[in-house]
Amino acid sequence: MSANIAEMEKRRAAAKAGGGQRRIDAQHAKGKLTARERLDVLLDAGSFEEVDMYVEHNCVDFGMPGNTIPGDGVVTGSGTINGRLVFVFSQDFTVFGGAVSERHAMKICKIMDMAMKVGAPVIGLNDSGGARIQEGVASLGGYAEIFQRNVLASGVVPQLSLIMGPCAGGAVYSPAMTDFIFMVKDSSYMFVTGPDVVKTVTNEIVTQEELGGAVTHTTKTSVADLALENDIEALLAARDFFDYLPLSNRHDAPERPTNDPWNREDMSLDTLIPASATQPYDMHEVIRKVVDEGEFFEIQPGHAGNILCGFGRIEGKTVGVVANQPMVLAGVLDINSSKKAARFVRFCDCFNIPIVTFVDVPGFLPGTAQEHNGIIKHGAKLLFAYAEATVPKITVITRKAYGGAYDVMASKHLRGDLNYAWPTAEIAVMGAKGAVEIIFRGLSAEEQAEKTKEYEDRFANPFVAASKGFIDNVIYPHSTRRRIALGLRKLRNKSLENPWKKHDNIPL
Ligand code: COA
Repeated sequence: MSANIAEMEKRRAAAKAGGGQRRIDAQHAKGKLTARERLDVLLDAGSFEEVDMYVEHNCVDFGMPGNTIPGDGVVTGSGTINGRLVFVFSQDFTVFGGAVSERHAMKICKIMDMAMKVGAPVIGLNDSGGARIQEGVASLGGYAEIFQRNVLASGVVPQLSLIMGPCAGGAVYSPAMTDFIFMVKDSSYMFVTGPDVVKTVTNEIVTQEELGGAVTHTTKTSVADLALENDIEALLAARDFFDYLPLSNRHDAPERPTNDPWNREDMSLDTLIPASATQPYDMHEVIRKVVDEGEFFEIQPGHAGNILCGFGRIEGKTVGVVANQPMVLAGVLDINSSKKAARFVRFCDCFNIPIVTFVDVPGFLPGTAQEHNGIIKHGAKLLFAYAEATVPKITVITRKAYGGAYDVMASKHLRGDLNYAWPTAEIAVMGAKGAVEIIFRGLSAEEQAEKTKEYEDRFANPFVAASKGFIDNVIYPHSTRRRIALGLRKLRNKSLENPWKKHDNIPL
């Protein structure tokens, strides 16, 4: 018996040693943790239960027979984060560069299947040289098996990817299909083809970091949602983030006890809106003053800053917050902000997370760049996302809600459940000056000023919309948190279904 146990212990030790001390040292020298160290930070202490630690590759080519390392370059299993179940895989760059073999892929697929079956999120820690070159198509097949599961799991269990090293070629498409991607600055990159191929094909000279580093993907491309300074910061961010997510589409969003009174009033909100309609203010301030303890986990803070998306809590329960940001491009809707918010709204709708929308939007951004790049199609994404969403939707118009953008931003007409406006709201087809220039051409400056004043008096307020029932109530800004909390209580058992369909056809 003791010999058997000794054999088991020997094999366990071999799996835990990964690619050996030299390669572990090299990993540390790059400022990176190993696959197992990462899981230690991500998961509650002692909660990790590994599976498949003895799995080895089955490759018979290129000197691979006999060259096996138990675990085959990925550590898989389950654990808990603040007591809640999660399935994880962590690629081990010290073992064949974390490259994906058929068996390595099979291990990832096994935990994904289990996660879908039991209803728990999947977090993937990516650090891999891509397809295991010695295996050829067997490795590519393994990737496709993972891709297929990413798609099947989409909308069933939350999927989060942390990119903590290389992620190149076809490998990028697994994280790309997950719900959120966090990247580590300077040590991670994602691209379909690397700098060398780019130089050969297009003659462009670009570094890995510029082409597909964390900053590039969280500012320019929006492929990733957050850029973190190092492994530890990324893993701790993932823990915080996880606490906002429901386990699956069959679960409600989690609840965290809070001491923040549900009816807390913030009088400073009454004077937040500047006297001049063109003067900006920071919508972050509104969000922080409304959500529990001022905690707002913002997604894509570095991209399309004219719209804010992220998670907060009201009475301890997760809400998705979408808000126009007057500080950036006056909070206008454009291609990037529409795409960013549309994806976020759809995530919330998949996972039963109520959506709170703060509106201060002067309309869609004009210009050939926007029109020729398809603002019609991309703007439609946000409209579509709000219109199809069946989760509780509460909207607060703080200032401008002009034109088509009024419709888009979770208006009553798109099945907004509770639509509030602050007394400072202006709900109209457009700003008064622009309106007068169109409907009264050729007026003297004096006449124009008079008509502008008339238009403002008539439309630069929330009461016309409220008189038609498009706004349920005009509320004191200081009462916003109380109104939202009461609304969410009322909507807890909301039941609304879209007509049966195989799936919709959102403009992509
Ligand atoms: N298949 C098999 N082994 C791989 C691999 C792959 N795709 N990528 C890396 N490795 C192995 C290396 O042979 C090396 O093995 P060793 O430790 O036994 O020497 C180890 O992983 C580390 O790779 P190395 O090149 O020394 O690390 P690096 O940090 O200098 O570079 C990469 C990392 C990912 C940039 C580089 O390894 C690379 O370009 N890999 C190939 C990427 C690729 O083309 N993948 C296939 C297409 S998806």
